[in-house]
Amino acid sequence: MNAPDGPKPDHSTIRDSQQVVSAYARWAPIYDLAFTAVMRAGRKAAVAAVAETGRLILDVGVGTGLELPMFPLGCRVVGIDLAEPMLRRAGERVRRDNLAGVEGLAVMDATRMAFADASFDAAIVPYVLTVVPDPTAMMDEISRVIRPGGSIVLVNHFGAEAGLLKPIEAWLGQRSASLGWHPQFPFSVLGDWVAAQRDIEMLDRRRIGPLGLFTVVRLRKTR
Ligand SMILES: C[S@@+](CC[C@H](N)C(=O)[O-])C[C@H]1O[C@@H](n2cnc3c(N)ncnc32)[C@H](O)[C@@H]1O
Repeated sequence: MNAPDGPKPDHSTIRDSQQVVSAYARWAPIYDLAFTAVMRAGRKAAVAAVAETGRLILDVGVGTGLELPMFPLGCRVVGIDLAEPMLRRAGERVRRDNLAGVEGLAVMDATRMAFADASFDAAIVPYVLTVVPDPTAMMDEISRVIRPGGSIVLVNHFGAEAGLLKPIEAWLGQRSASLGWHPQFPFSVLGDWVAAQRDIEMLDRRRIGPLGLFTVVRLRKTR
């Protein structure tokens, strides 16, 4: 029997928040097993960078909270995530490890946050930029909730411009919606966003982790 006519599911891109929630509901039970070690160096570097710049920190896309135990004493952290099954695990981690610096965890869309302008000293965005359907809307919103002089630290894998990884990423890219991220996401999306802002400067970007697979980017809100 032939498949019914009608729109075919498009697995090559993440179109909406519902796809993100579905993908991370599937990842949640095995996320820590798959992604603790390989992404640890990036999380540690991003936490160290963000902790230098402020006490009250927004963790955007906190997931299962793998970065939460890395914050030094004195940091107050609020984590948000769209996927409740991921966030539930972060809550379990906070209780189990007695992470007193974590002030709150909330199900919230990073492109439409409930926080007032300039609520936080800084934001950390670990492995999230290539997941959200509208990354520039998320960056606008993060910039809104950070105080002038505050910082935004991102860590992510960005698409390879050449080399062996490029065809692998292209193959994986056909499965972005079910994977839950875009393996080919170009750095220029972030670079162009920064260039278009009058109050954001890029302090640095550096490669980190196994084979330099990940990049830590430090941004500052100037006014
Ligand atoms: C790859 S995981 C990273 C989790 C964690 N930061 C880590 O380092 O392991 C990406 C997370 O971003 C969350 N996310 C995606 N889109 C989001 C949005 N619009 N608002 C809030 N969280 C979002 C996903 O639910 C997922 O938990």
